[in-house]
Amino acid sequence: MKNIEEVLEWAEKLILEKTGEPLKPIEEAILKGVWSGKKYSQIAKEYNNCRESHVKKEAAKLWEKLREELGEDLKKYNFRSKVEKKYRVSQSPQSGHCLQVDVDTVNQFDTVNIGHQFVQTIKDTQQRSPSSPDSSPNSSPDSSPTQNSSPIIDLTDAPDLTEFYNRTTELNTLKQWILQDQIRLITIYGLSGIGKSLLTRQLIEQIKPEFDYIIWRSLTETPTLSSLKNQLQQFFAQSQPPPLPTIIDYFRNSRCLVILDDLQNLFQSGELAGQYLTEHKEYGQFWQQIAKNHHQSCVILLSWEKPREIATLAAEKQSTRTLNLKGLESDAEEILKEHGLTDSEKWPELINLYQGHPTWLNIIASTILELFDGSVSLFLGDPPQPPLKKGGQREEIFIGDLKPILAYHLERLSKLEQKVISWLASQNEAVDISQASGLREFSKSELTEAMQSLGRRGLVEKISERGRGLFQINRIFQEYIKL
Ligand SMILES: Nc1ncnc2c1ncn2[C@@H]1O[C@H](COP(=O)(O)OP(=O)(O)OP(=O)(O)O)[C@@H](O)[C@H]1O
Ligand SMILES: [Mg+2]
Repeated sequence: MKNIEEVLEWAEKLILEKTGEPLKPIEEAILKGVWSGKKYSQIAKEYNNCRESHVKKEAAKLWEKLREELGEDLKKYNFRSKVEKKYRVSQSPQSGHCLQVDVDTVNQFDTVNIGHQFVQTIKDTQQRSPSSPDSSPNSSPDSSPTQNSSPIIDLTDAPDLTEFYNRTTELNTLKQWILQDQIRLITIYGLSGIGKSLLTRQLIEQIKPEFDYIIWRSLTETPTLSSLKNQLQQFFAQSQPPPLPTIIDYFRNSRCLVILDDLQNLFQSGELAGQYLTEHKEYGQFWQQIAKNHHQSCVILLSWEKPREIATLAAEKQSTRTLNLKGLESDAEEILKEHGLTDSEKWPELINLYQGHPTWLNIIASTILELFDGSVSLFLGDPPQPPLKKGGQREEIFIGDLKPILAYHLERLSKLEQKVISWLASQNEAVDISQASGLREFSKSELTEAMQSLGRRGLVEKISERGRGLFQINRIFQEYIKL
């Protein structure tokens, strides 16, 4: 109870100085309740069974009084983290103290009172999490004064930080969603090897001081939801006993970042995109809970396919965003440079052909080295050979070693999708499915569903032309299917 007593003392003094009035009993009840992650309805019940609306009104006035000290965006769900962040030992810019506290002499999350300042000390990552090392060589704590210098991190399932090019736009978008917009559930989906995991790994490097806990889990082994929850709970509980009842309680209490990679393993193969295997259906409800409940944490899902309920949550304007990750643009040239390819004037054409997809470009670059001594011109054929189609498109694209990767994606399609995509592959231009005589055997709703599903897998794109929605298959998949 020591922590909350310190907070109450701090709030009392602050409000007295600001308004000349003492902390009211209902304000005290609100602070106590919010600190321990309770809902307003629960606080109201425990406070003489008063009306929830009364508690909400009083809380709004209370946050107003504390905003000057804790920031304009102060709300119920971020109150605790703001207090903890602001009054942390040797991190409080207002305190003017450079306080040295021997972390071994105080308990974890212990508090120290310095005049008005509420100060929290946290042991470093190694001490608190010996079994959960941060594998990154670049993971030394950030020393920024307002940030958490020692989040607890478990990146054992994450990829290593390797050479990483650009993605500035995507990184900025994600940072905006997480740090400014406080989005609770983010899905990054895109083709295999497009760079979802590496992008997210890079993102962690840039935002980790903002979090108390960061954990990365791969779903390749398709854990049941309860086993995943147990793993997360154990991770969070290691530094804040006694255990809290649910994951959402941890999400409310601390700022947690959870990355769940390879989500597509939970989906059924041979069915429309984003449908859970029967034994994993509960995951969908878990995402809904994460998006709908108030808390201060963020979950990032990485997947080949966009989960169905994510679209619904977005439509309901819940706290969720989706990023469909595409290829690298001109920065993909760095990949070709790394392989030592030549004829740099032809690189944009090569990148365009393979859609800036980093893995595809790595594979094709190896082929170019092996068969054309690194000459991109010879590989592409210069003067243009094979001939260009009407509209400047090549007749033929070399697929070679990309085949197994493309096959993985196509093997997952439903029967309906397979038929539709085969037909799309035989078309030379984007098509209007309502006019497609080759697809008469399917009803309009079947076709719409198939297109939607192929879109959720990133295999088909919708383009607008003269007010009409046309569908276009990914050129590399088209080439592979035609082979
Ligand atoms: N921004 C980048 N800069 C340089 N190389 C990259 C970049 N993004 C991806 N790559 C290359 O592509 C490879 C695949 O990236 P990553 O593992 O992140 O893909 P993914 O989308 O997570 O794939 P999967 O869905 O199969 O797990 C990396 O190992 C790296 O070689
Ligand atoms: Mg990955």
